[in-house]
Amino acid sequence: MLAGEKAAMWVAAGIVVSVGLFTLYLESNTTLKSDSGEQNFAVPGPGLIPKGINPDALPDAQGHGATLLTIYCVQCHDLPTPTMHTAEEWHAVLTRMDGHIQKRRGGMMSRVAMPSKKDWQDLHNYLAEHGQTPLDPSAYDDLDSPEGQAFQAACSRCHAAPDPSQHLASEWPRIVLRMKYNMSDASKDTLDTATTEQIVSYLQKHSRQP
Ligand code: HEC
Ligand code: HEC
Repeated sequence: MLAGEKAAMWVAAGIVVSVGLFTLYLESNTTLKSDSGEQNFAVPGPGLIPKGINPDALPDAQGHGATLLTIYCVQCHDLPTPTMHTAEEWHAVLTRMDGHIQKRRGGMMSRVAMPSKKDWQDLHNYLAEHGQTPLDPSAYDDLDSPEGQAFQAACSRCHAAPDPSQHLASEWPRIVLRMKYNMSDASKDTLDTATTEQIVSYLQKHSRQP
């Protein structure tokens, strides 16, 4: 090979590598996990980003479903909590997540792993089994009261309004406080003190008996 040809080959190789690195750089800039913590993406959906929980805190943490969640559901954002959504909602969320995955895989770099059909079904079953218990409106005759209305309006903006009887009276104030943090994280209107008190009192009135 002539010296000139060799040099041209090196230049060509250099261009290929730089283009590859530049593409990687562009892609890394559009992922959700940016260093600044910004959500620099434009996709439809509730616009919530899971904040992440400790994998050990997952229900049946050593089981197959929990393991799948910690593999496939942390590729674009932190680990989501199964208790956040009802079985029905999880179905819709997973359909949306499938869309995000397919879209990413359609790109030049398919760095996002998609579970097998069976694993996807197992994930679905796991989330449905450990999901949020939804409110059954026919079980409560005071949902029209000011407290009941305040509860439904505030607590069904990100997930279905939860069933008050799934927690003890002593647990609800802490959970509502956490939800207020979730609201400010998601840039949603948070609750004033009077509304918070109304909601907590409604939840406690119908809470699980110890
Ligand atoms: C390819 C990237 C990607 C993967 C993989 C992914 N997600 Fe998401 N997820 C997103 C994006 C983007 C959003 C924000 C937009 C939206 O809600 O659709 C989001 C938001 C969410 C939300 C908050 C929104 C809501 O409706 O509550 C939950 C919960 C969620 N994902 C669960 C999951 C689960 C469970 C998995 C594993 C099966 C998963 N995600 C895998 C991209 C992904
Ligand atoms: C800004 C969105 C948002 C709003 C509004 C919201 N939540 Fe949540 N909720 C979340 C997220 C995110 C999770 C999962 C992470 C967590 O548990 O903090 C969750 C999980 C839950 C859970 C399951 C966790 C557990 O410990 O059982 C309950 C119950 C719940 N919310 C109750 C409520 C109540 C009651 C309200 C109204 C005061 C409310 N949520 C309003 C975002 C929201």
